[in-house]
Amino acid sequence: MLTGKNIILGICGGIAAYKTPHLVRLFKKAGANVQVLATASALQFVSELSLATVSRRPVLRDLFDLEGPGDDDKTVHITLGEWADAFVIAPATANTIARLNAGLCDDMLSVCFITLRPDKPVLIAPAMDGHMYGSPTVQRNLSALAAQGCSILDPESGDLASGQCGLGRMPEPEAIVTAMEAMLRPAPVSPLQGRKVVVTAGPTREKLDDVRFLSNYSSGKMGFAVAREAARRGADVRLVAGPVSLGTPPGVERIDVESAADMMEAASRFFGDCDLFIGAAAVADYRPEAPVTGKIKKNDEAMALRLVRNPDILGEFSAGRKPGQLSVGFALETGGGIGYAREKLERKNLDLVAFNVYDGATTGFEVDTNALTLIDRAGNVTELPVMPKDALAGRLLDEIEPLLPRR
Ligand code: CTP
Repeated sequence: MLTGKNIILGICGGIAAYKTPHLVRLFKKAGANVQVLATASALQFVSELSLATVSRRPVLRDLFDLEGPGDDDKTVHITLGEWADAFVIAPATANTIARLNAGLCDDMLSVCFITLRPDKPVLIAPAMDGHMYGSPTVQRNLSALAAQGCSILDPESGDLASGQCGLGRMPEPEAIVTAMEAMLRPAPVSPLQGRKVVVTAGPTREKLDDVRFLSNYSSGKMGFAVAREAARRGADVRLVAGPVSLGTPPGVERIDVESAADMMEAASRFFGDCDLFIGAAAVADYRPEAPVTGKIKKNDEAMALRLVRNPDILGEFSAGRKPGQLSVGFALETGGGIGYAREKLERKNLDLVAFNVYDGATTGFEVDTNALTLIDRAGNVTELPVMPKDALAGRLLDEIEPLLPRR
């Protein structure tokens, strides 16, 4: 819950701003005090009076506003930075994201972003047209903000105000409040504190020629959620990520790779000193035997492609690990029972396997939810029902923690 927490809600000029009075209400209902900061364009989309009414405070927007919460002896933008327990920016437009990254201070929202105490969490919920969201400029700015510790709440897919359909919708206000609650919940003292954790995530790309590759639909969301949660619990996390469009979780060291061979090379550097290895990547089992320089030209009606096996990253780690190093894998199946997963647990010498069945709707690659069945070496089976991948990552780590050797 958010009882007594002081939250700054920064609203930018996007169509999703119309949902923010509801967001304010939810924050208030959860017990928080909310100070709204709106950009001039935000107030084109949502009325100042609505926001002031639901938040029970005047909306601040002008850099030179004189009245705000906190110490009366200091200027508002300074006191706000001290008053706030957290800063949420929703919806965050490409323009504001760029201005925050550049450090501009030309309105109340941007200046308070700078005056916020550095240990206070910031949650940014980007919302814009899908092409804008995917642009390298926006992604670069988001990555830079994530690297300085801001949490980015990934937008959702659906109909957009631009008339397009795609990634860019602001998550529903309920999801924003849930994310904020998770961020403000005091982290329990976890057995993962100070442990070295390596997580692989996302797909790999196996080169066919200079312009084509073989890959799979993995979005990396599950692995990134695990890395984020492990870091939140105080672990020292290295995330070896295949090509995905996700921001780096706060406090995580990320190593971007392309192929299974690259992933093996990067991950194996950490094999020696890690306490826990979690293979969440959808590593391609095979790669083209002889990738072609340039472009393969078509000539016959059919073509045969010869593939050779890729290294098994998790398998190699497990085979060579020292006593006390834990090994956790995922087993994604399109059907069949947990027999496959048990077989993988044995074959790869794992401590725990997370079995999930692909249905493409509530479980699968691009979706934000998943369900897992966890099987450990002692034969214990734990069913985790469909829930957001972030929550599932927490439950998975709850099951792993007791397996860690005592210090
Ligand atoms: N894995 C890996 N390196 C590979 C292949 C898989 O590290 N080359 C890891 C995955 O990250 C996952 C687990 O091993 O944790 C999955 O095992 P695997 O037997 O490869 O699963 P599938 O590819 O689903 O196996 P199969 O095709 O035999 O069902």
